[in-house]
Amino acid sequence: MREECYSAGMQKPGIIYGTAWKKEATTELVAKALAAGYRAFDTANQKKHYSEDLAGAAIRESAVPRAELFLQSKYTSPDGQDQRMPYDPEDDVATQVRASFAGSLKNFGVDFLDSFLMHGPTGAGVLDEDDWAVWGEMEALHLAGKAKAIGISNVGLGQLRELEGAKIRPAYVQNRCYAARGWDRDVREHCLANGIVYQGFSLLTANPRVVGHPATAAIAERLNATPAQVVFRFAAALGILPLTGTTDPRHMRDDLEALSLELTAADLDALRALS
Ligand SMILES: NC(=O)c1ccc[n+]([C@@H]2O[C@H](COP(=O)([O-])OP(=O)(O)OC[C@H]3O[C@@H](n4cnc5c(N)ncnc54)[C@H](OP(=O)(O)O)[C@@H]3O)[C@@H](O)[C@H]2O)c1
Repeated sequence: MREECYSAGMQKPGIIYGTAWKKEATTELVAKALAAGYRAFDTANQKKHYSEDLAGAAIRESAVPRAELFLQSKYTSPDGQDQRMPYDPEDDVATQVRASFAGSLKNFGVDFLDSFLMHGPTGAGVLDEDDWAVWGEMEALHLAGKAKAIGISNVGLGQLRELEGAKIRPAYVQNRCYAARGWDRDVREHCLANGIVYQGFSLLTANPRVVGHPATAAIAERLNATPAQVVFRFAAALGILPLTGTTDPRHMRDDLEALSLELTAADLDALRALS
């Protein structure tokens, strides 16, 4: 079985280690993830949920060459921040984006990011003036070679279609993935059809029915794997680049190794039937 989700020439992490909600344990957990073999890391310059400086400390202290790493951060608008903002909220959004990005470079001790995401559009409807101003500044960072790729998170299909009209189109989408919504079928299939890499989060936590289903357990048992691993492998088969936020070193290894599981066509049918 082949993954079809990556565009030629794009960096190809198999799974991304997410650094949200780890607080003071962030440095230690990112170091453990590096030791386990993770090379792709997701964060955001948003102290409310991420300790990007602490994730960066592990990266800065690591001996892994920069070229082997995939570092991704996000610009989060004032609405998504607490009082600890990485910019002055009174500044115009383009200035905010530049300040947020510069802060992320500093946190990681690097001079470019592999991917820089808009954390989310202002609302669920059409993209507004601020969204376009954010995207415009992200395009400038990309064109300056500082953000190798740009993308958007928590995005709807209509909004993604609007971005087709942008000067630089998104390389990545990062969304929460509910099996009950066909694993975000509309957005995911749009990504597959348009060479956008779809990153999926909450693959386990949003889908307890699939993780706990006897059909998943039966596949896991046959493969001498865990149901969580089967879900990650199934997600990859759907063209999803999975994120895991595990804090458990054994799960770190499990989630990496899940990508090597051999699911049969019948397995895929059985798992698809659960959504
Ligand atoms: N763009 C956004 O708005 C957004 C929103 C949410 C998340 N994210 C990103 O996505 C990352 C991941 O978030 P998430 O929501 O997918 O995950 P998460 O909330 O960090 O949780 C993963 C859960 O799955 C469990 N788990 C992982 N591997 C397992 C395994 N092999 N067996 C059993 N349990 C396992 C973990 O438990 P253990 O710790 O015990 O393993 C944990 O409870 C975040 O850190 C962040 O980077 C982005």
